[in-house]
Amino acid sequence: MSHDLFEAARAAMRLAYAPYSKFPVGAAIRAEDGKIYAGANIENISFPQGWCAEPTAISQMIMAGSRTIVEMAVIAEKLPLCPPCGGCRQKIAEFATARTPIYLCDETGVKKTMTMEELLPNGFATDTIG
Ligand code: THU
Repeated sequence: MSHDLFEAARAAMRLAYAPYSKFPVGAAIRAEDGKIYAGANIENISFPQGWCAEPTAISQMIMAGSRTIVEMAVIAEKLPLCPPCGGCRQKIAEFATARTPIYLCDETGVKKTMTMEELLPNGFATDTIG
């Protein structure tokens, strides 16, 4: 993974709005257009209305007109290694392939690399819809 993807995730984490959990998370995507799209978790006083860093980054990618995640980095300030939550795995999978690498990072860099398939084996998928 290039350093700029890691830096983008770490910079995004610093923009997290996480006054309730005090658990900032950052995510950064390199998309098929070669650009980096980053995001942080955005919480809400009505707790279930908050959302994770990963969908913020995905939203940025989609609204820039890109549709494919080439690689992705995730970092959490208070965890040595932050695996995306279950819901986020399904959201990432929508725009990734089985072999897309997801980099789990800490403050110093990549601690573990997992493929989409490793993160979400047997994820929901069907030819019946669409
Ligand atoms: N969080 C993320 O941003 N991504 C994850 O994959 C796990 C959890 C956020 C949601 C919430 O704002 C905080 O971390 C604590 O759960």
